[in-house]
Amino acid sequence: MTDPTDFMKHTAPSEGESTPWAETRIDTSRPSIARVYDALLDGKDNFAADRVIADHYRQVPGAPRVPWDNRAWIGRVVRWLVAEAGIRQIIDIGSGLPTASNVHDVAQAIAPETRVAYVDNDPIVLAHGRAILASNDRTTVITADAQEPEGIFGNPELRALIDLDQPYAVLLAAVLHHVPTGEDQKVAAGIRERIAPGSYLAIANFHDPGDPRAQGIETALVEKGLGSGWVRPYPQHRMYFGDLDLVHPGLCPANEWHPDDETPTDSPVHHLYLGGVAKRP
Ligand SMILES: C[S@@+](CC[C@H](N)C(=O)[O-])C[C@H]1O[C@@H](n2cnc3c(N)ncnc32)[C@H](O)[C@@H]1O
Repeated sequence: MTDPTDFMKHTAPSEGESTPWAETRIDTSRPSIARVYDALLDGKDNFAADRVIADHYRQVPGAPRVPWDNRAWIGRVVRWLVAEAGIRQIIDIGSGLPTASNVHDVAQAIAPETRVAYVDNDPIVLAHGRAILASNDRTTVITADAQEPEGIFGNPELRALIDLDQPYAVLLAAVLHHVPTGEDQKVAAGIRERIAPGSYLAIANFHDPGDPRAQGIETALVEKGLGSGWVRPYPQHRMYFGDLDLVHPGLCPANEWHPDDETPTDSPVHHLYLGGVAKRP
């Protein structure tokens, strides 16, 4: 059988060329956020242009730790949402390429009936997601942009899986720092204002606490060719949650959010990444 991701092993088809994936127009000569992140997590779904950016990022002291801390934070948040808050529907916006311990793996290990909709604006995520999730009827993957929330919440595939009148959780992990300043607040507000009572919003992003390494991260990502990856001070992160109720322990360094036995307590960069979970009462 043909591997549905075979197209990724080549550069984008030229104009007029017909391939099963021609409509996705994956350009491997330019870095993509999803593939750079995959490279930073030691994945294999990335290309030379992505690895150049990942190498710039790795030169910032301590920065290579942050993507792993983020994945661990997502795992703890999903476990908390399903096991403690009773959530059974999750929308993961800016979900990225499949990795170890995906959101549906974590959630369905606790409550198999949990439904998960993955959303990303990079079509490569859909291609990989469909291949991997084909056998899981409680999970879907759609291509949509966080900056156009109607395209997410009005998507028929998502609505077939997620009952938007019932409580659900929205994850926005490592996404808003890729949305330009000003637009990031609109994205958060667009989701916040939509979510049903009893629903949760979980957000995590790079933080600028005045540490020069934060600026180093921004330079490595924004100025070396990726074009996004802004670090922002605490008040801007806090505004994402608006009038929602932040759950304990509030908006804090991700490693301090319900740490478990595997959460590093001595990370030199834990102040560079903030996460929080809030509820619409
Ligand atoms: C750094 S990855 C994070 C992946 C995953 N959320 C995690 O934290 O492990 C950011 C993802 O967000 C996606 N993304 C960036 N901007 C987006 C937007 N405006 N709408 C939807 N997805 C977006 C990228 O394509 C990428 O897959």
